Amino acid sequence: MSDKKSNKNSAGAHKDIDEVSGVETTGHSWDGLKELNNPLPRWWVWVFIICIIWSIWYFVVYPSWPVPGGATEGMGGYTQYKELEESQAEIRARQDVYLERFENASLNEILNDPELYAFAIAGGAAAFKDNCATCHGTGAEGGKGYPNLNDDDWLWGGKLDEIHQTLTHGIRAGGLDTRVSQMPAFGKEGLLTRDEVNNVVDFVLSLSHPHQGDETHGDVPQEYLAAGAEIFQQQCASCHGPDAKGKHEFGAPNLTDAIWLYGGDRETIFKTVYNARGGMMPAWGERLDENTIKQLTVYLHQLGGGEKDDAPVLIPATAEEAIEDNGQHAEPEQQPAE
Ligand code: HEC
Ligand code: HEC
Repeated sequence: MSDKKSNKNSAGAHKDIDEVSGVETTGHSWDGLKELNNPLPRWWVWVFIICIIWSIWYFVVYPSWPVPGGATEGMGGYTQYKELEESQAEIRARQDVYLERFENASLNEILNDPELYAFAIAGGAAAFKDNCATCHGTGAEGGKGYPNLNDDDWLWGGKLDEIHQTLTHGIRAGGLDTRVSQMPAFGKEGLLTRDEVNNVVDFVLSLSHPHQGDETHGDVPQEYLAAGAEIFQQQCASCHGPDAKGKHEFGAPNLTDAIWLYGGDRETIFKTVYNARGGMMPAWGERLDENTIKQLTVYLHQLGGGEKDDAPVLIPATAEEAIEDNGQHAEPEQQPAE
């Protein structure tokens, strides 16, 4: 259309008017397509100006310009660190109200005081995620060799004092007060022959699978079971109890339920009896402060169908209920672990 092939800047002397729209062009032309020199929309210009003003204001008031060792402070003196510090101070102040009462309360008193109870559950849940979930699972469901802490099946006892003792001193963790006991490796140490181990394993299996013909039980001849039962009374009852229901003072599991620490199939039980086990848990008294251990104790007690002490106990039906009652104080207010 245009016969002029000009790539010159529009600042040139001549004005080029587009024939179709009647608007002046910038003089730029690409294969005959010309750029019209329309003015910027007014709203756009205003937004642009406001943005510039805003950025200058922001620049002055807030930290913005990187300098060695940080950034310019800004007149407002705002930093996210300060904000964090303030909110943490507020949290600490809120916790302090409870902390002093909490420190002086016995475990039983905590269980009976809805506010302290909620405080313990919230703190315990957070501390559990930070310290215990690696071994016991985020939901405390456990795994092979790591006990499930949700059920009411306890190795070392589920009373408050017993849990507290387990946590503070650990299990086979060294130290004078740690929980310790060692099942002998009956096969490896030659205390029982392989046949005898087989018999007692069949007997153990029959306890949790009392029906003849069961998959795991199989059709074990009665005389083998009788032999196994005799070996059990001689070799195992001292720790697991004559009824095989376990003994807390030795950390010896109940062998009559369907809950297994290492596994309830024949092969695993054989390995357990032949080689023995010896699960180990660190002593948390060396790593956590007493308040955290108290919180964890109460938390686990309510998780795991804690066993009652002799004193009367008024436990809220669920942790959620206790937290709801005291909602404003009870969120787990721990810093995330770095
Ligand atoms: C390094 C792995 C590990 C960590 C971390 C760990 N545990 Fe354990 N815990 C174990 C093992 C293993 C046992 C079982 C020991 C045994 O066989 O008697 C155990 C047992 C327990 C028991 C005894 C359960 C019972 O039935 O008597 C309690 C309670 C417990 N742990 C709580 C905790 C708490 C609370 C934490 C976090 C502060 C924690 N554990 C962290 C490995 C761990
Ligand atoms: C000195 C005490 C002691 C004696 C004696 C003993 N046990 Fe144990 N037994 C334990 C302890 C403690 C554990 C738990 C080991 C652990 O927590 O790591 C255990 C664990 C077991 C388990 C694993 C249970 C599970 O849930 O996985 C089986 C099975 C078992 N014992 C069978 C026997 C049999 C059979 C005998 C006799 C031949 C026997 N025990 C003798 C202390 C003993």
